[in-house]
Amino acid sequence: MALDLYKYVASYDNFPEKGVTFRDISPLMENGEAYREATDKIVRYARDKKVDLIVGPEARGFIVGCPVAYDLGIGFVPARKKGKLPGKVVGASYGLEYGKSSLYIHADAVKPGQRVLITDDLLATGGTIKATIEMVEKLGGIVVGTAFIIEISELKGRDKIKDYDLLSLLQY
Ligand code: PRP
Ligand code: HPA
Repeated sequence: MALDLYKYVASYDNFPEKGVTFRDISPLMENGEAYREATDKIVRYARDKKVDLIVGPEARGFIVGCPVAYDLGIGFVPARKKGKLPGKVVGASYGLEYGKSSLYIHADAVKPGQRVLITDDLLATGGTIKATIEMVEKLGGIVVGTAFIIEISELKGRDKIKDYDLLSLLQY
């Protein structure tokens, strides 16, 4: 029987600052069955979309994307924070629910025409996913889908990426 994945999300009021309720996927990752079930759902979505490559933003996008890439036998490209990647990179800046940041991927990591799925643990304001889409497209990749374990609906991140298909397993 399918697990209720909501039971594997922890919520913390006023973290990391007052007024923010932080949704944490740690319990889901710590439970093998729940982690596998969430991963399998995203694998099915990726298979439907005929994905060639997964791109995931640091750090929790790696946790979601890597097992999906492994299962499908395709590559995973990390979108990393400033100062982490050597060599030629493309970058994009964005605003967060709390703070500002920028992300980078290797300039040869995505090949023109590749069908890309972007994964992350959570969609909040949509800044992170939008910046990641921007980098993939700069390199000629086709973003065929975006997949998240959690969507914070009231922050309307979905509206920022209206033109892209989106899978979220849990909504708050
Ligand atoms: C969190 C989360 C998403 C992003 C969502 O990552 O894992 O990547 O914020 O917010 P947004 O939709 O408003 O952009 P964070 O930047 O805190 O990095 P971390 O995974 O390294 O903790
Ligand atoms: N949980 C985890 N990461 C986040 C959140 C959240 O509620 N909002 C922005 N990044």
